[in-house]
Amino acid sequence: MTINSRIEELERRNAESEQGGGEQRRARQESSGKMTARARLELLFDEGSFEEIDKFVEHRGQDFGLAEVRVPGDGVVCGRGQIHGRLAFAFAQDFTVFGGSLSEANAAKICKVMDLSLKVGAPVIGLNDSGGARIQEGVASLAGYADIFLRNTLASGVIPQISAIMGPCAGGAVYSPAITDFTFMVDHSSYMFVTGPDVIKTVMHEEVTKENLGGPLTHNRKSGVAHFLAADDADCLARVRHLLTFLPQNNHEDPPWVASRDRDDRSDESLDEIVPAEPDKPYDIKQLILGVVDDGTFLEIQEHYALNLVVGFARLGGQCVGIVANQPQVLAGCLDIDASVKGARFVRFCDAFNIPLVTFVDVPGFLPGTQQEFGGIIRQGAKLLYAFAEATVPKVTVITRKAYGGAYCVMSSKHLRTDVNYAYPTAEIAVMGAEGAVNIVYRRELAAAENPNRLRKEKAAEFRQRFANPYIAAARGYVDAVILPRETRPRLIAALRMLQTKRESMPAKKHGNIPL
Ligand code: HXC
Repeated sequence: MTINSRIEELERRNAESEQGGGEQRRARQESSGKMTARARLELLFDEGSFEEIDKFVEHRGQDFGLAEVRVPGDGVVCGRGQIHGRLAFAFAQDFTVFGGSLSEANAAKICKVMDLSLKVGAPVIGLNDSGGARIQEGVASLAGYADIFLRNTLASGVIPQISAIMGPCAGGAVYSPAITDFTFMVDHSSYMFVTGPDVIKTVMHEEVTKENLGGPLTHNRKSGVAHFLAADDADCLARVRHLLTFLPQNNHEDPPWVASRDRDDRSDESLDEIVPAEPDKPYDIKQLILGVVDDGTFLEIQEHYALNLVVGFARLGGQCVGIVANQPQVLAGCLDIDASVKGARFVRFCDAFNIPLVTFVDVPGFLPGTQQEFGGIIRQGAKLLYAFAEATVPKVTVITRKAYGGAYCVMSSKHLRTDVNYAYPTAEIAVMGAEGAVNIVYRRELAAAENPNRLRKEKAAEFRQRFANPYIAAARGYVDAVILPRETRPRLIAALRMLQTKRESMPAKKHGNIPL
């Protein structure tokens, strides 16, 4: 064989592998509004930076006609490249090859990429578009899934793991994205469920469409399984790239510092107008967040789910921070089950990846009701408390208005070893609101009073005068300083700078037992 014929052979083999399942199936993929696996990877990585591995891996199946059909690459494209100049690994399931189904060989390819990303400490991104376990391969395929789940678990908290659902993702296959840190779903083309509509109809006599059961809106709004909703493939990949700009490569690194044109000492008087002095008047906490952070840039996470708690990434003085904030505009900012779980997972991500936490508090308490109690608000609310308490990253809290009862303790209070606690002059730190307190403390007097309403009002005003302020907490040192809203940005940046060298550890243990 001449060198030229060797080169020709390599070119032929490369071209064959890049064909995927052939022209017809690729055309079908594109006509259904989806990009091919390779086109997706091109968009995900910086131009020309993607390097594929295991291009010639073939399946090992023999049964049900598999022996006759071999597609080099076997339905998943794996490799590494740069995203905004930083190393990342990815695998993209190729729906044009056996429906992107997972075989023993393509699971091994995915595992190889995951092992490499863990070894060198770089994020791994999975682009999911698959009919699930390769039916013809039986238990070998199931073993492949379990191998991936194990790696997802081992890599959790070590490297950022991101899943994009860009087609079907059903059955046990959903558990890999479920373990990863962030899940994106593409509108109109993706769905996720453990059991599909047909099984549900047979077993439960319930009729539901695929879209309603596990579409992107369902998982972004109702279940909280997804963190981001993308309009199409290109939008999804652009969003994955943007998210990564906030994250460190691994748990030994700090998140990248990004210079901003926004001055660190910017004081903004318009912020003084956002938080109303009246305890029950709603306002949008996002307005405050946007007014404080660098360049008004805030990447909200789970923006369609548990709207009573806002979480996301921003920068302060160039440093990435995780923001957790009650949203007084929804359910008066009460904490409920969904908000607690959403907040807890976010806080734990930030803590694992050295991202300081900035918490804005305006919370009247936990949401009352049988639905919440039966759903285990006791256990679920404890998750958020536990997450804040165990977090050792720099923690700074601003109480904007209400901080009542147990929710005061939970929301990164001084007592959970928060480093710097600020309160606005509008802050009210108390066991409960004035009316509720008066109804309990003066129950007998109110029952005997000629004019109970007048008495209630008088006593509530007295109570408010005494307790509805930040100064009792400040007198005990639970609040370090009472600041004006306009000073928030410079104060937070200064506090975070001071905390840059913070070192705090946990008692030696195998791991804690967070109430799951
Ligand atoms: C092998 C598969 C496959 C699979 C699809 N294909 N799923 N091959 N194993 N699981 C093949 C089809 O034979 C077809 O081949 C091609 O992929 C495209 O499939 P279509 O059905 O034509 O596509 P579409 O109409 O878009 O429907 C997609 C689909 C459907 C909804 C995903 O294919 C489907 O229901 N597949 C089976 C899903 C499933 O039950 N999987 C096992 C789940 S259990 P040709 O040659 O015609 O192009 C599971 C357990 C995981 O995953 C456990 C982990 C612990």
